[in-house]
Amino acid sequence: NKKKAEISLKFEVMGIGNDDTQELAVVQEQLLAIDVTLIQSKAIRCPEGTILRETQLRVAAKMEETSASKDEPPVATTESNEMVVNAYEVKGKIDYEKLVNEFGSTVISDQVMRKLYDLTVAKGRVPCLHRFLRRDIFFSHRDLEVLLDQVSNGTPLYLYTGRGPSSESMHLGHLIPFLFTQWLQKALDVPLVIQMTDDEKFLFKGIYEDETGDNLDNFSRLTIENARDIIACGFDFEKTFLFSDLDYVGRMYPNVVRIWKAVTTNKVSNIFGFDGSSNIGKIAFPAIQAAPSFASSFPTVLQADRSSDMLCLIPCAIDQDPYFRMTRDIAHKLVHKQHKLGGKPALIHSKFFPPLQGALGKMSSSDQNSAIFLTDTAEEIQYKIKHHALSGGQEKAADQRKFGANLEVDVAYQWLRFFLEDDDELVRIGDEYSSGQGEYWCTSKVKDRLASVLQELVAEHQKRRAEVTDYEVRKWMSERKLAF
Ligand code: TRP
Repeated sequence: NKKKAEISLKFEVMGIGNDDTQELAVVQEQLLAIDVTLIQSKAIRCPEGTILRETQLRVAAKMEETSASKDEPPVATTESNEMVVNAYEVKGKIDYEKLVNEFGSTVISDQVMRKLYDLTVAKGRVPCLHRFLRRDIFFSHRDLEVLLDQVSNGTPLYLYTGRGPSSESMHLGHLIPFLFTQWLQKALDVPLVIQMTDDEKFLFKGIYEDETGDNLDNFSRLTIENARDIIACGFDFEKTFLFSDLDYVGRMYPNVVRIWKAVTTNKVSNIFGFDGSSNIGKIAFPAIQAAPSFASSFPTVLQADRSSDMLCLIPCAIDQDPYFRMTRDIAHKLVHKQHKLGGKPALIHSKFFPPLQGALGKMSSSDQNSAIFLTDTAEEIQYKIKHHALSGGQEKAADQRKFGANLEVDVAYQWLRFFLEDDDELVRIGDEYSSGQGEYWCTSKVKDRLASVLQELVAEHQKRRAEVTDYEVRKWMSERKLAF
């Protein structure tokens, strides 16, 4: 007589797995009169090249008639929230499928996953695909498949990512693209450029003003502070160039000018929502973020000129996509014909890291309680998780035993998906917590597990960061030929 139940199905297959629709159909057939919707799916597990597909489905009986039954678990509701995702704002309940449709990107298929596997794990550089791939956190792409085909044919590749240094201390959400990029660099053995857009934050943000109303120096300072966190993610010094726009943009200037000429004010205003009252720096800025997508912006670092056929892959959160849609539109004007993607950078997009208060929008540094910062102590981490993480569990123990937790809205569980490496343990926690049985039957057990995972991660990060001196930062930020 339960109206809702969650089941987990595991499909162990060799080679490429079935697709989701097939799996849904099978379940639908076996459980008649039932609605089946996909919660999440896909995992590739190593070693031995076996693909383990994990599919979680929500199954709901259709026959429900009475609305308020006593037997129904109290549902944690959040007010209806319209989704807004653009380069400057992320809020509301994020519907990733809708986003991919609106943006026109492509969901990462098993086939692409297999190609990634062949170029990384199969080469012996990493033990398995990154958990962000196994768990669909990096979930969407543009031209990744073509790029991987080209790379396996020997076309050279570099990675490009970046950060707008808007706050002194970075939080866990900021770490996602860098942790993944670090993995990609190692897994593909390629050079990497990291752009610090201090100029962007100066143009778009009004904080930290001094008595003259100017705050540019503060953003330069934040660049250095954030650079230390980025370096602490474990990149390969010989293969990584970190740069501040304020320092380096001169070297990219020829490409910036080319991009300016190729993009109209109307176009940039449509994409980013600028109008006649926007300062002219805002309108000019997207070209600055676009320029590192072209190898020729790095004549020394990548030893590239305009005839270079070097491909570019950009790992980023999906809200950065508008910049690169613009870039891809005009890319052919910046490269010579031999470039295999017509000059276009390829992209791999991540989902957002949810704030402690629940699955709406993304984590923000302006709200101390919505985020765990890389400077937080073990006690602060424990406290924030305990008191601020939205629980998908039931309030009363008896209810929790009976109905279990809703994993989809439970922040502790969702965060474990991002940070707990062990697949088996994650599945076990999910099973036990969602059924209210076993060691991880309730919120506090799951939260404690999360706290220990994050305390370890943050402590290790702080240790590595403390070793990054100013001198060290200057070395990473000096223009030099990378090893590749
Ligand atoms: N605009 C990004 C931010 O505000 C920073 C950025 C610059 C970036 N270049 C990038 C992010 C390339 C991802 C990929 O954080």
